[in-house]
Amino acid sequence: MDKIFVDSKGKLFQGKKAAGLIKEKNDLMFLSDDGVVSVSEMRWKEAQKYELNFAMKKQKAHSDDRNIEHYNRFDSYNILNELDVDNYIEMGCGPFTNSRLILNKFKSVKKVFLLDPLIDSYIKHKNCTYKGDNLCGYKVNRLCSSIENIDSELKFDVIVLINVLEHCYDIPLIFNKLYDQLNKNGTIVFSEATIQKDNLEEIVSSIYDVGHSIRLSTEFVEKFLRKFEQLYRKDFYKLYNQPWRHDVYFIGRKI
Ligand SMILES: C[S@@+](CC[C@H](N)C(=O)[O-])C[C@H]1O[C@@H](n2cnc3c(N)ncnc32)[C@H](O)[C@@H]1O
Repeated sequence: MDKIFVDSKGKLFQGKKAAGLIKEKNDLMFLSDDGVVSVSEMRWKEAQKYELNFAMKKQKAHSDDRNIEHYNRFDSYNILNELDVDNYIEMGCGPFTNSRLILNKFKSVKKVFLLDPLIDSYIKHKNCTYKGDNLCGYKVNRLCSSIENIDSELKFDVIVLINVLEHCYDIPLIFNKLYDQLNKNGTIVFSEATIQKDNLEEIVSSIYDVGHSIRLSTEFVEKFLRKFEQLYRKDFYKLYNQPWRHDVYFIGRKI
């Protein structure tokens, strides 16, 4: 497999140059049977530094981060139509959010939370969708925190988590938090890129991408999703010219 190395400035290296760089820096030390499911704080902070720079500089003029693609793959979130929601949260919301395409599906929402460790910087992005702490007419409660550190007293009726886990640092802890903090009968809207178990070692030893601290096996994600009653699911393979990729789009209910 061709080697790929993406450095902290987002510069892409391939071939021999990438192979040399990967020898010096890679994520193999974090690899387990389930994938790279947890990393050191230092590794996560490097990923977050990249993420901030990417959003505020490279995406300076943007107003969408594949949110419309997600909307289409979730069949316009139609399954959420007419729900009455007390507490709603999008975790790892980024500057543009998926919530801007979700919130108006509900019959009513009492309280909207947006969580992201970089949220207090994102609010300064020219096209941030929750400027003035207002999104789609709802007052936003901004939580500047990682999911791993979210206040465990908070409980939610809807949790949205789309394209986030690959950027975090402790997925087993996050899976526990997601389950515990979702109310009974609550809804999870979940999408993530996964990798078949058999391909993991090759991917982690061939690709180092500073912005992606985590690489999840499909099996590990499936085990978590089996805890919910499935309301919606679509699978996509080989997106973005990445032959190893298996993207899961899932909406479930906690029973
Ligand atoms: C690729 S962006 C996607 C943003 C948004 N979900 C979207 O689809 O537009 C990933 C986001 O996850 C956030 N993130 C990284 N680590 C996190 C963590 N441990 N807890 C919560 N969010 C995290 C990043 O700050 C970033 O905003």
